[in-house]
Amino acid sequence: MNVTTKISIMTGVMMLVIIAVLAGSYYAASTSFYEEQTFSDLESRLAAHADVIDQNFHPGTFNHILTMEEREEGVNYVEFDMDLHPVRISDGADEHEIAAYQAWIQSHSPSEVAYSPGGDRIFAVSPFAENGETAGYLFIDQSMQPLADTTAALFRLTLAAAGGSLLLGALFLLFLHRRVHRPLRELADSTAHIADGHWGETLDWRRQDELGLLSSRIDEMSSQLAAYQQSRKQLLSSISHDLRTPLTYVKAYASLLQDQPQAPEEANRQISVIHREAVRMERLVEDLVELTNMEEGKRSLRLENLDLSDAVQQFCNNYQAAAEAEHCTLSFSRSSQQLHVHLDQDRLEQALYNLLRNAVLYTGPGCRIHLHVYQEDKTAVLVFDDNGPGIPASQLSSIWDRFYRGDDARSSKTPGSGLGLSIVKQLIHLHDGDIQAENRPEGGLRFLITLPLINRTSQRPAD
Ligand SMILES: Nc1ncnc2c1ncn2[C@@H]1O[C@H](COP(=O)(O)OP(=O)(O)OP(=O)(O)O)[C@@H](O)[C@H]1O
Ligand SMILES: [Mg+2]
Repeated sequence: MNVTTKISIMTGVMMLVIIAVLAGSYYAASTSFYEEQTFSDLESRLAAHADVIDQNFHPGTFNHILTMEEREEGVNYVEFDMDLHPVRISDGADEHEIAAYQAWIQSHSPSEVAYSPGGDRIFAVSPFAENGETAGYLFIDQSMQPLADTTAALFRLTLAAAGGSLLLGALFLLFLHRRVHRPLRELADSTAHIADGHWGETLDWRRQDELGLLSSRIDEMSSQLAAYQQSRKQLLSSISHDLRTPLTYVKAYASLLQDQPQAPEEANRQISVIHREAVRMERLVEDLVELTNMEEGKRSLRLENLDLSDAVQQFCNNYQAAAEAEHCTLSFSRSSQQLHVHLDQDRLEQALYNLLRNAVLYTGPGCRIHLHVYQEDKTAVLVFDDNGPGIPASQLSSIWDRFYRGDDARSSKTPGSGLGLSIVKQLIHLHDGDIQAENRPEGGLRFLITLPLINRTSQRPAD
């Protein structure tokens, strides 16, 4: 049984229960109210009649009482003498009834109000007196018909309400079927279709409700799956391409060494090519493992509360000589403020080293690298400038993609696989920071790294 049918049945049953409880309590309340009213009314009527007779024992009084009782609806009135012979009888009371009244009076106390033996009428009896001596009995038989009529009307009303609620339940079921069940089935079919490999297909529903939200989430998921599939294909083709080139070298030079005797210098040259290509493959694999680990959250940082200027200063001290060996200059202007950030010094240096290697590689000898840090609102900003060729504006957003290499990088045969900046970006993101690249107006490339400041920046004490 589907969910919408279950909801409709539950709603219908709930409505029926509510109607039944309401009707039942109304019936119980009105019955007891009617009973109480009738009992006390009969008691007081008979007491009043007996009182009047006591004060004015006269046939006219009895006749007057008879007339009054005959006007009451659903009432049989009988005046009995001491021997229970009927003296005055209202219209409508027959012999059988009178015999039943006599039997009832005999088996009850002289002044009593109670249900008739059949339970469908109320009998009331009260003695009357002449000169203080009991002279007979006044008897009233009150029909319960008005209550029966009310009960029947209530029953009809309950039936009508139950029928109405069933009808409403059916309409509700129809509504749910159209608005919820059918769209849910369509969603289930579509997701099964997407799961079958039709990634990227969308439902494109324009609904404003929760189902619309669900369908738009499914659309998003489908597009992301398609993008994931695409990037997986690209990744595999890039990896195989990047491995094939060094493998070709390794294979060719290895067979040369194997097949033909070589002069020692030539053999050494071939062995160093094999070594260089093996190192390249090793780096590619290491970079891929590093990236995958970071993306899967397996790489954790050893964060410390550090001053960014001190951390960058340390990096510059460590790599100054390496830069100079490549005929490059590496300079740093530190901030006058202390900029406290949560940092893993080694990871920051790994990221900056990737940037440094790029600057050296793509600028060449004479490269000038300058770093400086400053505070902007609640973030520390680290600027990394070089004076190289920069990157065409149209390619600026692609440099973060895995295996992206600029045309110049490819054609100039500079070593690399296009993973360096992806790793840098992941490292900065692990620090809850961000990194952007832009071309400097005066030439060269600029990287802007932002890191959240710890809430305790203070002015550096004057040296
Ligand atoms: N400082 C720079 N100046 C000019 N172009 C740059 C600079 N840094 C990066 N690029 C461009 O961005 C591309 C991507 O850089 P990335 O560091 O990701 O890869 P790579 O240097 O080619 O290879 P590797 O994985 O060895 O770092 C480079 O191929 C190059 O075209
Ligand atoms: Mg690089």
